[in-house]
Amino acid sequence: MILVTGGAGFIGGNFVLDWLANPGAEGIVNVDKLTYAGNLATLDSLKKDARHVFVHGDIGDRELIAKLLKEYKPRAIVNFAAESHVDRSIHGPAEFIQTNIVGSFNLLECAREYWNGLEAGAKEQFRFHHVSTDEVYGSLSMTDPAFTETNPYEPNSPYSASKAASDHLVRAWFHTYGFPVVTTNCSNNYGPYHFPEKLIPLVILNALNNKPLPIYGDGQQIRDWLYVGDHCSAIREVLAKGKLGETYNIGGWNEKANIDVVKTICQILDELKPRSDSKSYAEQITFVKDRPGHDRRYAIDASKVERDLGWRPAETFDTGIRKTIQWYLDNPAWIEGVVSGSYRDWLQKQYNWNLKTVNLSNEYPHLW
Ligand code: NAD
Ligand code: DAU
Repeated sequence: MILVTGGAGFIGGNFVLDWLANPGAEGIVNVDKLTYAGNLATLDSLKKDARHVFVHGDIGDRELIAKLLKEYKPRAIVNFAAESHVDRSIHGPAEFIQTNIVGSFNLLECAREYWNGLEAGAKEQFRFHHVSTDEVYGSLSMTDPAFTETNPYEPNSPYSASKAASDHLVRAWFHTYGFPVVTTNCSNNYGPYHFPEKLIPLVILNALNNKPLPIYGDGQQIRDWLYVGDHCSAIREVLAKGKLGETYNIGGWNEKANIDVVKTICQILDELKPRSDSKSYAEQITFVKDRPGHDRRYAIDASKVERDLGWRPAETFDTGIRKTIQWYLDNPAWIEGVVSGSYRDWLQKQYNWNLKTVNLSNEYPHLW
């Protein structure tokens, strides 16, 4: 078995599905707290698959994690569990500190104790894979070279600071205790099962529902987009062949300004599902107040993982975004489940918060 945390979330869910799509794959024990971002509907196809054991639990619950490690004896742990949305971290950082830092610490401690008790062969084979983000490196100017693994950590949001802290813990557990870790720092993911608080799924769903497509600030912020299936294949590669104690940057070589991403989505939707009035979805684009402390540019230099492990993304942005939009068009049941749940409450809260500091009716008429 392997133990996956956060496997009901966006990337964790895709990872579990991709892993088990291989008929010969080892089983997965999937521990997830099922916060607003955890969605068991993503794992629906595994309901009758005996290789998948779902456990509703918190990575901070040492008793539970110790029990699971004893019972299932995994040969690896892949830690996806986290609070992951930057806007939420600005609004309320406490959960980010709790799960991303304290939770990761508890998980590391349980895993270290378990690993210490393994017999030599199993101990040698064991891996703790920590899934992290490019945001720990801070923000680039337009002319800076892309982030490499040796860039200094300069996190700017409560989210990225909490992820940076967990990366440091993981690093220290390797150097101090010899605990066998690998860390991956990945750029922005997109693809199926993405919770629609993040830019790409939010824009697809708002477009289809005749709502505004909110662009923060001037829309010129740059992100480096990676199709989620490519992130999953990179994690499998690093887990299998990564060097202990190393970090690997994972990215898609797809730097795009937010406004261009949104325009591309509109163009594809115009083609696949034209508006009833024949106008472009781009008409719904609305510039809104910027995110506080908004990082200007992320870009990943993924040469190391290519050079050392032979991994490269399979999708370009053009192929990946088309697949993603088609998936949202083909899966109304998954979307309806999300939209009718706590997502609604969050949108309300988010926009109330954004609106607090501005002249409401003039700047955000679309929200009324
Ligand atoms: P997500 O928010 O969609 O999913 C997170 C999952 O973790 C949810 O299922 C949630 O229920 C679970 N969870 C939260 N707190 C938990 C806890 N205390 N115990 C157990 N489970 C808990 O996030 P995601 O986008 O799938 O990101 C997964 C990981 O990848 C995170 O660590 C994130 O920092 C990292 N990452 C994300 C991206 C991205 O673009 N989404 C890019 C790079 C790295
Ligand atoms: O870089 C990796 C990170 O990517 C991950 O570590 C995070 O977990 C993940 O959420 C993502 O963070 P971002 O803040 O970059 O993603 P988000 O989808 O929230 O925003 C992408 C860009 O779009 C960002 O510049 C903010 C902007 N944006 C976002 C939303 C939700 C808008 O302009 N309008 C919006 O409504």
